[in-house]
Amino acid sequence: MSKRLMALSVLVIFVLTFGLSGCGSQQPAKPAEQSKAKVLKIGSDTAFAPFEFQDENSKEYVGFDMDLVKAIAKQMGVEVQVQSMGFDGLIPALEAGNIDATISAMTITSERAQKVNFSKPYYKSGLSMVVKVDNNTLKSFKDLEGKRIAVQIGTTGADEAKKIKNATIREFNTAPEAFIELKNGGVDAVVNDLPVNEYYIAQAGGKDAKIVGEPLTSEEYGIATAKKNTELADKINKALDEVKKNGEYEKIYVKWFGKKPPQ
Ligand code: ARG
Repeated sequence: MSKRLMALSVLVIFVLTFGLSGCGSQQPAKPAEQSKAKVLKIGSDTAFAPFEFQDENSKEYVGFDMDLVKAIAKQMGVEVQVQSMGFDGLIPALEAGNIDATISAMTITSERAQKVNFSKPYYKSGLSMVVKVDNNTLKSFKDLEGKRIAVQIGTTGADEAKKIKNATIREFNTAPEAFIELKNGGVDAVVNDLPVNEYYIAQAGGKDAKIVGEPLTSEEYGIATAKKNTELADKINKALDEVKKNGEYEKIYVKWFGKKPPQ
């Protein structure tokens, strides 16, 4: 008898504390929470094919990074909204809280990692050089001493080019502008990410330009988030792991690079 009474009062207390508070507060809070988390604001410099660029017809942002970030967002149950901005404005925009994350073929460097969180690496890259198709004197990076080099502002390519002795560095807002400068004869070479150089040569630039020499660096791209937003960084890492496991990552890689990702 006293056992049953005990059980009953425990039940009553349980219902009063958890049951009612559950009805009262949890229900209305949910929709508000969901609508807040629904959109992930992504910043990107969308002139870096095949990672991010604007489709001429649909005007949509497309590319490897765009597909990958959409797959990650889908895994997280949120939507993606891409904001196009200058590459050198991405980290400041994260710090100011104007965007939630960046995906922009951004190399993970220790200098940047002091300001932002990087996800696990999602792509292996490196720098290479592009010269005019009829140039037979510039064959490797050491031939660039004293030469004129075009780079994109704020990139690892710009950093490396600045180390070359007596070289004149011309910095452009976007990588395509650097390629145009080479075509126009304003510079002797472009120093930029190898997969982007390859895409340029394969798509449009092949009649004007070529890649020479071995890659100068080995770099890895990461998705950046604001330093204090470690919760989002964790979610992105988990979702990235998941899309790698479920085959989505490989599908996207093959779509843009025509081969399977290196192991
Ligand atoms: N990987 C290089 C860097 O991090 C260049 C990236 C440029 N990206 C872009 N979307 N323009 O500096």
